[in-house]
Amino acid sequence: MHAMFITVQRTPEGVRMIDQRRLPREETYLVFREPEEVAAAIRDMVVRGAPAIGVSAAFGLALGASAAAALPPDRFRERMEQLFQLFTDARPTAVNLFWAIDRVRETLDAGLAAGRDPGHIAAEIETLAQTVHDDDLDSCRAIGRFGAEVVPDRGTVLTHCNAGGLATAGYGTALGVIRGAVEAGKNVRVLADETRPFLQGARLTAWELMQDGIETVLITDSMAGSLMRRGEIDVVVVGSDRIAANGDIANKIGTYPVAVLARAHGIPFYVAAPLTTIDMSCPDGDRIPIEERDPSEVTSMFGVPVAPEGVGVMNPAFDVTPAEYIAGIITDKGLARPPYSESLAALFSR
Ligand code: MRU
Repeated sequence: MHAMFITVQRTPEGVRMIDQRRLPREETYLVFREPEEVAAAIRDMVVRGAPAIGVSAAFGLALGASAAAALPPDRFRERMEQLFQLFTDARPTAVNLFWAIDRVRETLDAGLAAGRDPGHIAAEIETLAQTVHDDDLDSCRAIGRFGAEVVPDRGTVLTHCNAGGLATAGYGTALGVIRGAVEAGKNVRVLADETRPFLQGARLTAWELMQDGIETVLITDSMAGSLMRRGEIDVVVVGSDRIAANGDIANKIGTYPVAVLARAHGIPFYVAAPLTTIDMSCPDGDRIPIEERDPSEVTSMFGVPVAPEGVGVMNPAFDVTPAEYIAGIITDKGLARPPYSESLAALFSR
C-alpha cells in the first residue's frame, strides 16, 4: 500500500507540499522558499493534520536556520526566536506543532551552549527536521500494526476528518489503522464523514482511500447515528490533535458527537495517534486550546455564500471527547486502554 502523493518534503529549493485546499479536483504542489511562507501554509490549511503540521514546522524552521547560517551567533538566535514565535502563532490546537518547535529549540540551545557556529547548528536543525519527518512515517506504520486488531474482517469502519497520509508524513494514523488491517489481509469497508465545514472527509479521506483501492462510502456528518442504528458500523477510528494526560482527546469538530453516538449503540470508539500528539503537561481536555476559525468557512462553500449576510457564526475547529467514551488509544508504542492516566504514562517510560 503505497501513497501516490507526497504530503511535505524538504527539497534543495525549499519546502514542497501538496496543496490540500485544491484536492481532489487538482493535484498541485507548491514550493516555499521562505519560512514565513511555510507558516502561512500551515495557517491557511495548504497543509493540515497534527503530525503534518509538526513536520512542516520543523522543515520551515530548518529553512530559516539555513538562510540565517551566515549570521553571528547572537543575531542567529534572534532570528530563530522570531521564527519560533511565527510558527507558534500558526495554529493553536495540534500539539505536534509545539513538540516540533521544542525539538528545534533544544538543538539550537545545545549548539549555542557548546559554542558551535550557526552554520553547524543550521545543519543539525536540517538533520533533525528530516528525522522528525522519517520518524513520523515509522510511527504511523507502527500504529497501523498495533491497530489492525481492532478492525474486524469484513467490518465497516467509520472515520471522521482526514487522519491519513495527507495529515502525516505518510500512511496516516486512523487511516494507518485501516491500512494496517488491509495489509493484515482483512476485508475492510470505510464510511467517511464529510466533515463540515472544511470537508476533509469528502475531499481528502475519500480521495486518499480510493487511491489505495479501499472501499469507501461517503456520508454527511448527520447520517452517522442513523447508520449506527441500522447496524452498518462496526468500529469508529479517528485521529487526534492533542491528547491530555487523562485520555481526553481533541479532534476535528464533530468527533465528540460521533463518540457519544458510538457509546449509545455499543460500538467501540478508538483514537489513533503517535506519542508526539500526547501532551502529558495538559491534565485534561478542558485545558486544550480550541482554534476558532474564520466565519466564512461556515457561511460559504467554495466561495459561494450559503447563509444570509451578517448572520452570527460559531466556528470552533475542534472538540474534546472525554476519555470515558474511548475504548482504546492506538499509539506507535502500543494500544493504551483505560485508565489512561496510567496507561499513557506507561507508554512514555517504555
Ligand atoms: O483542521 P485540520 O484539518 O488540521 O484537523 C485535522 C484533524 O482533526 C485530524 O483528525 C488530526 O489532526 C489527526 S491527523 C493524523
